[in-house]
Amino acid sequence: MSIEVLVLFYSRHGATAKMASLIARGVEEVEGVQAKIRTVPTISTVCEAIEDNIPDDGALYASLDDLKNCHGLVLGSPTRFGNMAAPLKYFLDSTSNLWLSGALIGKPAAVFTSTSSMHGGQETTLTSMMLPLLHHGMLLAGLPYSETSLLETTSGGTPYGASHLAGTDNTRKLDEHESKLCIALGKRVATLAKKLNS
Ligand SMILES: Cc1cc2nc3c(=O)[nH]c(=O)nc-3n(C[C@H](O)[C@H](O)[C@H](O)COP(=O)(O)O)c2cc1C
Repeated sequence: MSIEVLVLFYSRHGATAKMASLIARGVEEVEGVQAKIRTVPTISTVCEAIEDNIPDDGALYASLDDLKNCHGLVLGSPTRFGNMAAPLKYFLDSTSNLWLSGALIGKPAAVFTSTSSMHGGQETTLTSMMLPLLHHGMLLAGLPYSETSLLETTSGGTPYGASHLAGTDNTRKLDEHESKLCIALGKRVATLAKKLNS
């Protein structure tokens, strides 16, 4: 059986999207596991956004079936006032039927985020994304301190999930520790998904 880990994210300026690519790389370091990268559409402040089903560039939009069919999930969002971004929350709020049927119960999951400032809410955003996943009965994984980058980083990287300090102009690149921790997180969820489905 082919094991699939869904890397689902929202990104407006690209920092969280870069993290998603590294996480997918980590997923695919585990033999027999494939990463599926998906995003969510931007939403309007005044009404439901009417968008094409296929984005102009980047990852395809996620469907509820992507969630239902995956064996593991890594969920990412830029920090917005210490919380996940509205487009991702909007998508998660459409998952009631999956919750009713228990479709995500027992699947491994992890979270990642990008911020402009060092203490601008990485941990709170990571935990904000964990809450709906716990309601769905998912099994949350963080990062263990055996990943030595957690001890050495002076920017992003937390035991609650991967994180990135993008800087006030959002141009700071993912550094070595942040990148290693993204890959480690993808690998960890992939390893769990494989074990739980073997
Ligand atoms: C409405 C809004 C709120 C934000 N709130 C925060 C915040 O609370 N803390 C922080 O450090 N950065 C905040 N940011 C900055 C973004 O989190 C940061 O630029 C992030 O790297 C963007 O990721 P992206 O390139 O994937 O869109 C905010 C940005 C916007 C537009």
